[in-house]
Amino acid sequence: MHCGVRCQVMRHPLAVAFTLVLLIAAGAAAAGEPAGRTPKPAIEPARAGTQCVAAPDVMRRDHPSLLKHQRDETVHRGVREAQSSLKACIGCHASAATGSVAQAKTDFCSSCHSYAAVQIDCFECHSSRPQKQVAQVGAAKP
Ligand code: HEC
Ligand code: HEC
Ligand code: HEC
Repeated sequence: MHCGVRCQVMRHPLAVAFTLVLLIAAGAAAAGEPAGRTPKPAIEPARAGTQCVAAPDVMRRDHPSLLKHQRDETVHRGVREAQSSLKACIGCHASAATGSVAQAKTDFCSSCHSYAAVQIDCFECHSSRPQKQVAQVGAAKP
């Protein structure tokens, strides 16, 4: 004899309960992602055909100390031709859309920082945009 849904429930109460638990768990997992959570940063690609001053995983971890080290080299020791220059970061990482690394929320530095809740004051003094003229004059020197 064919056994209908009700009959199944009578015969297999455990199986039915298990299915319900699964359904509830799935619902909870879907609801577990709080609404309005900051989305993962979509990191702007760097200028095509370039390489970073260090491997990307190193940069992700060490860029704060690289930058601070470079700043001390420049400000206290007058070294200006260095690799970890903030100007160089901006030259390669400025957004094609906004021309900046930190103007829009989607720009390179700000996308990641707002995700990680990091605040930097660097761009109160430093330009967040490449300074093409200055860079070219510098590059043209022998
Ligand atoms: C109060 C203004 C001010 C703030 C804020 C500031 N800087 Fe600077 N920074 C300067 C000045 C002035 C120089 C010297 C520029 C020069 O002589 O080339 C400099 C130089 C540098 C240099 C070396 C030059 C270069 O372009 O690489 C780095 C690197 C640097 N700063 C990084 C930072 C970082 C990172 C922050 C944020 C954590 C920051 N600065 C915040 C004023 C500031
Ligand atoms: C000559 C160009 C160039 C310079 C200069 C440069 N970068 Fe990069 N950077 C890249 C490239 C290329 C990548 C690899 C990822 C990509 O293609 O977007 C990268 C990757 C990164 C990443 C990892 C991003 C990710 O996807 O997780 C960070 C962080 C970073 N750079 C920070 C900096 C900082 C800070 C400076 C300055 C000290 C700097 N970069 C200087 C070209 C450059
Ligand atoms: C891949 C994500 C990512 C990108 C891209 C990124 N940062 Fe960061 N940055 C972080 C994180 C995460 C921290 C906090 C790290 C820590 O506290 O050790 C941080 C910290 C810093 C700090 C130190 C702040 C402090 O108060 O000590 C500076 C300076 C900084 N970033 C500059 C930059 C600049 C300039 C750029 C763009 C050229 C940039 N970062 C791009 C993730 C990123």
